[in-house]
Amino acid sequence: MIEITDLRKIYRMGTVEVKALDGLTLNIEKGEFLGIMGPSGSGKSTLLHMLGLLDLPTSGKIVIDGMDISRFTDYEKTMFRLYKLGYVFQDYALVPDLTVMENVSLPAMLRKDRTEEQTIKDSFGILQKIGLCDRREHLPRELSGGQQQRVSLARAMVNKPDILFADEPCANLDTENSRVVLDLFREINESMHQTIVMVSHEDWHKDYFHRIIRMRDGKIISDGINGASKNT
Ligand SMILES: Nc1ncnc2c1ncn2[C@@H]1O[C@H](COP(=O)(O)OP(=O)(O)O)[C@@H](O)[C@H]1O
Ligand SMILES: [Mg+2]
Repeated sequence: MIEITDLRKIYRMGTVEVKALDGLTLNIEKGEFLGIMGPSGSGKSTLLHMLGLLDLPTSGKIVIDGMDISRFTDYEKTMFRLYKLGYVFQDYALVPDLTVMENVSLPAMLRKDRTEEQTIKDSFGILQKIGLCDRREHLPRELSGGQQQRVSLARAMVNKPDILFADEPCANLDTENSRVVLDLFREINESMHQTIVMVSHEDWHKDYFHRIIRMRDGKIISDGINGASKNT
């Protein structure tokens, strides 16, 4: 469970202040597939960065599974990210000189509690799940955008994180590839009970979410259970 209380993030650029997050309070339940929607500049990515321990809020509190993350040391943050969190970005962010298999194994190799054998087994398993096992020796540039995004999802999932963050993962994909990627997110959420927090700009994506937060000017303007998603 993620508990966010009165979260604020102010960017100062010279004399100009931008309130990217302006007093945001929100609880996210375990296993929830949450969609964050809203116009460009409304603070969606900023919120995800704070929740993902990638940046610090100006004020406010984030508690994940009972732990106040603002009290973490840098080392604890790194470990928390490695063991608990997964990320999928709009631009895939794969390492260009590493093969698909190497990209997917990377986060698993950074962990000290996994043998090499286990890492290979896990990477193989997740590549099978996303249907790209036969492409494991390819470089990212030899794959389509949709395939690259599936690889980045596999990389995010290889350590079986409790929480998966995705910032507009379908922004560079056509409708068909977006569906393939969104179906994978849904399958992961249903089969592995991962909490997923996904930012999206496309209205039709809302069918995938259990619950939708809409943001504007760094605030939540609506928060609702998505009834339509339950039977799709
Ligand atoms: N690193 C930064 N420095 C200064 N301003 C920023 C920075 N990141 C985001 N902003 C500003 O904060 C606001 C929210 O941005 P962002 O969270 O990226 O919105 P969204 O993801 O909803 O498009 C915008 O006005 C943006 O210009
Ligand atoms: Mg954004």
